[in-house]
Amino acid sequence: MKDKNQMELGRRKFLVRSTLATAAVPFLSISSHAEQRQKDKSDPENSFEFVFMTDIHIKPEMNAPLGFQMAIDKANELSPDFVITGGDLVYDVMRGNFERSDTLFKLYTEMSKGFQMPVYNCIGNHDLFGIYEESPEDESHPDYKYGMWERYFGKTYYAFDHKGWHFITLNSLDVTDNKRYKGFFHKEQLQWLRNHLKKVDRSTPIVITTHIPMLCTFSQLNGKEGSRTVENNFEVFEIFKDHNLKVVLQGHIHWKEYGNANDRVQFLTGGSIAGNGWKGRRHNTKEGFMKIKVSGDTFSWEYIDHGWEAERLKIGIPKEK
Ligand SMILES: [Fe+2]
Repeated sequence: MKDKNQMELGRRKFLVRSTLATAAVPFLSISSHAEQRQKDKSDPENSFEFVFMTDIHIKPEMNAPLGFQMAIDKANELSPDFVITGGDLVYDVMRGNFERSDTLFKLYTEMSKGFQMPVYNCIGNHDLFGIYEESPEDESHPDYKYGMWERYFGKTYYAFDHKGWHFITLNSLDVTDNKRYKGFFHKEQLQWLRNHLKKVDRSTPIVITTHIPMLCTFSQLNGKEGSRTVENNFEVFEIFKDHNLKVVLQGHIHWKEYGNANDRVQFLTGGSIAGNGWKGRRHNTKEGFMKIKVSGDTFSWEYIDHGWEAERLKIGIPKEK
């Protein structure tokens, strides 16, 4: 009998690029990986750009579709090879209400067809269906927790290759006993990661995408309690210790941060599309996204203003519904 993901594949086509990419690009053996990397090094086209766009929080209200469309248009204008999203695609489905939640996912998937390049999605806390205490739904609902996201996009953790670089999107979310979300990489995923990395050459540059940050200075800078990072982030760093982990792309905080931890790993928190619930900047970070340029074994980044702040100030803030 086919599993749920397989059954859904037929009608999701465009929307499951993440899964399809994994399935369609079988992993190269270690030797052919090395050959490919050698080829890429001598290839003048061994540079590319991609967009990292996070915390979109799409909903029909607050002119959110206009703001997201402006981000899509800007990304198309920049013409990167692909887009990676950083989670919190919708706002929000944690409190249940199936009709409303499904409408939000539909809105996101319909709008993201406007990207003129592949889109690789990541799951965020606001994308977890029905997990809160006040939700009318519970574990028995097929869309519970990761279910709705999976129905639209496929697996919540997966990998793909691009021009000698390896990209891994992780699911950084779980649910506590008292029905709140928490930043956590669950065991099954960690086991997948261990097995998966056996097939990746140790010199291959790797990019991780995670919604909840693995490294973040927000609390230290703002005197807040809690690290705002994934609880068991160290387990993932441990798994990567013999690999060439270049950068961790992160969302959730709605601010911009770049760090280099002792030349071992760099991290980049990508601002947000929604700002403070579409009402303005959050943490004084202008709404925007990251354009990342890869050149050989290195990368550089630039925060792109897609014009939403100027537009928002021009049209004013609608009454919140
Ligand atoms: Fe968010």
